[in-house]
Amino acid sequence: MTAEATPLLAILAREIRASGPIGLDRYMALCLGHPRHGYYATRDPFGRGGDFVTAPEISQMFGELIGAWAGAVLATMQAASPAARPCLVELGPGRGTLMADALRALRAAGAAFDLHLVETSPVLRRLQADRLAAAAPVFHDSVESLPDAPLLVIANEFFDALPARQFVRTGHGWCERRIGLTPEGDALAFGLDPEPDPRLAAEAPEGAVLTVPSQGLAVMRDLARRLAARGGALLAIDYGHDRSGFGDTFQALAGHRFADPLSRPGEADLTLHVDFGALARAASAEGAAVHGPATQRDFLLGLGLPMRAERLKVRATPDQAAAIDAAAARLTDPDPRGMGALFKVLGVSHPALGPLPALPPPS
Ligand SMILES: C[S@@+](CC[C@H](N)C(=O)[O-])C[C@H]1O[C@@H](n2cnc3c(N)ncnc32)[C@H](O)[C@@H]1O
Repeated sequence: MTAEATPLLAILAREIRASGPIGLDRYMALCLGHPRHGYYATRDPFGRGGDFVTAPEISQMFGELIGAWAGAVLATMQAASPAARPCLVELGPGRGTLMADALRALRAAGAAFDLHLVETSPVLRRLQADRLAAAAPVFHDSVESLPDAPLLVIANEFFDALPARQFVRTGHGWCERRIGLTPEGDALAFGLDPEPDPRLAAEAPEGAVLTVPSQGLAVMRDLARRLAARGGALLAIDYGHDRSGFGDTFQALAGHRFADPLSRPGEADLTLHVDFGALARAASAEGAAVHGPATQRDFLLGLGLPMRAERLKVRATPDQAAAIDAAAARLTDPDPRGMGALFKVLGVSHPALGPLPALPPPS
């Protein structure tokens, strides 16, 4: 395997030489979040010139519909606790596009709240601060410092970027996947812990890969505990599967193409498909109600995407109308690899909040 000599490769190699091969969680944390050389610390990765496109960057309709969803949920929250001022929270707001579009819809609904953004990237924080200045957002490095108040949390393509651990089933148990150096010492290579982890006992064929979304579970537990104690709801939208299973979805994206996740550390986006089953179990265990997951297609159709598209088209040129139709079709594409089916939407709430718009009732 060859690796490009990125600044982060030298840092990783030093750490591996000093302390031995590192887990996938440590690798992802450094590649995405290193304060000087991490992927998100150094760039705006969105759009044509970037590495990927997210739903709010495809169409304003996505953020507007989520704003309408948030307005309805905030109204229910305020009816339940009229004295408590809620916080609207976005996790990983990217360019701030989703929130800017959502705020337009929320303003029309007359909702009152304080805006809090959880973002680690200084580059993206600057974009968000400019774009959302009128709402005076308060920034956080992590969910831990969010206020002790009723929360309405939105997370689009956030959980897939959080560091996770992986284990491979061997003849003698589940061994953690680690990243070390090749014998020449100039590139990274996958390896396995020689000793199995005694806490893992799931039956699976040899070679099966088990992903433990360690940071995603910690974030979900923290938020679900707050929602169950103080009220509110969370909406997580991401690509992933609704039931836990075995398989390796660790991937790198650079310039809109899949890349070798070890070849350009710090220069490519690293993600894993989200295990919504595991997130739902973590939320339930903290006493929160779980809604769904639904597919993104069902969620957006349930929120009235076709009607929103028709309204936008009233004042559109023929080219703009075609673009609106194309965006709506892309966001709801039912092909198994299309955004409508691959992306799932999970709701989590205080158990007394009742059903959430466009999501299945809590089970
Ligand atoms: C794939 S982008 C999604 C952006 C946006 N939600 C959207 O849909 O366009 C991931 C976002 O999460 C942020 N992020 C990644 N890891 C994070 C972490 N550990 N804590 C807070 N933000 C993080 C990134 O900087 C970026 O804003």
